Amino acid sequence: MSTRTEMGLLASSILVCLIVQLVRSQEDPNSNKGTTDNIKAVFEGRCWDYDVTKYNDLLPRIDADCNVLWDKFSQAFSFRAPCAVKLSSYEEFMSLAKQSLPANKVMFWSGIFSLAHRYSENGARFITLEDTMIGYLANSLTWCGQESPPGINYSSCPDWSDCPTEASESFWAGASATFASQATGNVTLMVDGSDPNKPAYRRSSFFGKYELPNLAISKVQSVNVIVAHALDKPKIEVCGNGSLALLKKDVTARGLSFTCEDDPDAVLHLLCSDDPASRECQLATAHQAGSLPSNLLETAGFNQKPADMLSQTVVY
Ligand SMILES: *[C@@H]1O[C@H](CO)[C@@H](O)[C@H](O)[C@H]1NC(C)=O
Ligand SMILES: *[C@@H]1O[C@H](CO)[C@@H](O)[C@H](O)[C@H]1NC(C)=O
Ligand SMILES: *[C@@H]1O[C@H](CO)[C@@H](O)[C@H](O)[C@H]1NC(C)=O
Repeated sequence: MSTRTEMGLLASSILVCLIVQLVRSQEDPNSNKGTTDNIKAVFEGRCWDYDVTKYNDLLPRIDADCNVLWDKFSQAFSFRAPCAVKLSSYEEFMSLAKQSLPANKVMFWSGIFSLAHRYSENGARFITLEDTMIGYLANSLTWCGQESPPGINYSSCPDWSDCPTEASESFWAGASATFASQATGNVTLMVDGSDPNKPAYRRSSFFGKYELPNLAISKVQSVNVIVAHALDKPKIEVCGNGSLALLKKDVTARGLSFTCEDDPDAVLHLLCSDDPASRECQLATAHQAGSLPSNLLETAGFNQKPADMLSQTVVY
């Protein structure tokens, strides 16, 4: 293999990253499942555990007792037809469970659940909705009401798409709006730039509908967007084009600054840590094995970022 081909191969390997990620888990509850078994015990157990062991140095404790939180939460939907839940139903629960959030640490995500959470690292790097008490309590649970006792339907919950938008979105819409309204400083948003079926940013997403509109412009300076791309997949949208241009427009129209970065090194390396053998991650492997051609380091400019190297290199 000629050095040039090798170089192209190695460099192109640093390329584009991916993740085929889950859709926001809240958007896609399992339609045939009923309410999560033992939901009250799970909810209250999570709550007490959170209070004692979770995010102690990062997020404030809340004043309300866990059984009070369960009462307020369950009152929003129990003894009601499953789709008869208004957007405002969870307001009391939200106001008791909301926490103030440290500046510059809030991260939103859209269409990219798993990578966003690996990157945020349980609050160590960023705080997502699922790290807060409200999101933590409800994450991955299913629930719905019925009019007859016990007021909760454990056998089947309707598909959210069968309910009016308001009912199906009520909890996570309120949770997202509450979370966004508590953000201060710079906020981060991670999106997927390589989903062939969905733009990275949609005005109808939770971010577009409930988070961006609820950022307090007097307390938030900048929305810093991270566009992640799956390893080995085409970059369908990058910063500045497609729906990311629309996002910039919507963010600046709210009077906030906007920055955007495609595949920051930290995100790329995280993807590689899960898939070290992928073509895109071979340069690091070769470096570790001491098998990088020495002239590659000079010609490719090893002190540059991989993205810069790529743009200078012939990709096969
Ligand atoms: C539980 O939900 C299913 C699906 O929506 C419905 O067919 C069933 O009647 C409900 N059970 C009760 C007791 O309301
Ligand atoms: C906030 O983001 C802006 C970019 O818009 C940057 O210049 C500034 O340093 C950031 N501040 C903090 C505290 O991260
Ligand atoms: C955005 O830019 C990327 C990379 O230059 C390109 O592959 C893609 O086709 C562009 N997408 C749109 C929607 O213009």
